[in-house]
Amino acid sequence: MRIAMIGSGYVGLVSGACFADFGHTVVCVDKDPAKIDALKAGGIPIFEPGLDSLVADTVRQGRLSFSTELGYAVSQADVVFIAVGTPSRRGDGHADLSYVYAAAREIAASLTGYTVIVTKSTVPVGTGDEVERIIAETAPDADFAVASNPEFLREGAAIDDFKRPDRIVIGVQDERAAELMRAVYRPLYLNQAPILITGRRTAELIKYAANAFLATKITFINEIADLCEKVGADVQEVARGIGLDKRIGAKFLHAGPGYGGSCFPKDTLALVKTAQDFGVQVRIVETVVAVNDHRKRAMARKVVAACGGSVRGKTIALLGLTFKPNTDDMRDAPSISIVAGLLDGGATVRAYDPEGVEQARPLLGPVEYATDPYDCATGADALVIVTEWNAFRALDFRRLKDVMAAPVLVDLRNVYGGEEATSRGFAYSSVGRPG
Ligand code: UDX
Repeated sequence: MRIAMIGSGYVGLVSGACFADFGHTVVCVDKDPAKIDALKAGGIPIFEPGLDSLVADTVRQGRLSFSTELGYAVSQADVVFIAVGTPSRRGDGHADLSYVYAAAREIAASLTGYTVIVTKSTVPVGTGDEVERIIAETAPDADFAVASNPEFLREGAAIDDFKRPDRIVIGVQDERAAELMRAVYRPLYLNQAPILITGRRTAELIKYAANAFLATKITFINEIADLCEKVGADVQEVARGIGLDKRIGAKFLHAGPGYGGSCFPKDTLALVKTAQDFGVQVRIVETVVAVNDHRKRAMARKVVAACGGSVRGKTIALLGLTFKPNTDDMRDAPSISIVAGLLDGGATVRAYDPEGVEQARPLLGPVEYATDPYDCATGADALVIVTEWNAFRALDFRRLKDVMAAPVLVDLRNVYGGEEATSRGFAYSSVGRPG
């Protein structure tokens, strides 16, 4: 199978490399010549565990290549994936589809032979219909179908998620396209991944409904965590106690500083907007969006409280800035609101992150960056674990205590048991657990 992947960002690159690994011949296309030159030279523009070796192997084996020539890649392809960005549109929160539609126009001009054009980008319900209309208008004689195939890749675990998916969702309007899409995913049958073939609009909505549900689960446990703190209960035990019920499930019940990243904030907002467009109220999702935004800001107040009610003139050390570990992605990271709140409160902020500093710099303002956790903690009046990188799971408390101005630890990811920190002389606070 010959595949053209339009857009060599996070989703395009991971999906392209994985399809090539499964034996297909893939060309990853991007408009940015610098990005394509870098990829050709073996550089990987994003941090994703395992991606560099997967790309290197599939390039060496001749199944993965990179190009700025969309037209040629499309003319050779059986299947063309659209994996361009769909950021939140400034001002109204709708997904910005201008890149998707521009790609559709360009693809239309180069179609040869029967081709399935697949939206992999997260797109609102009805986008497939519009892509189909654009292609039919631009190339009235083209022999094509438009499918929806949303991705469910978690950053930091994307390759594993691609190779061992819980399910594959394919939205098509006819059997011929369904057959071709089954062939694309045939190598994954070995892993017995269920393939769900649905209508195109249904597939588009599945993606949003899945992300909104997961965001709701996180937000739910975060509110239960707040209640736990007041009533003296332990949210981790509550999560385990409810999660063992198979109807609820144990995953995505980890309380923390609020969800961030490239998907949940953008997709929940876009779902609310889509529902409004269709005159439907999705009040639960609306509330989730509001509660999560509020929570990120509340985390700075939690740090202030741990410092005795004021951080003015104090130095606060943050460990972890990215929205979650194993990524350099800072999009909608809770650290952004936390840093803003601490700076507003008059604190000096020092920070350390294993991978995200370059992305963080333009977003965080006047923050001092440290070279490791102990350098970060030196002279600090409180140390805050914002993101649970593995490197922060076995901190040397004695060493920290020696270098810090005051032994205060605020653990926003519940990495430590309270005893571990308090027995070493730290004032310890966490999320949803007894003080
Ligand atoms: C998510 C979806 O999981 C994925 O299926 C979709 O395709 C893209 O969006 P991702 O954003 O990479 O993936 O990260 P994920 O691991 O889902 O975490 C999202 C956010 O929720 C992070 O900020 C994380 O810290 C937070 N989270 C997650 C919690 O606070 N608690 C949890 O229990 C789980």
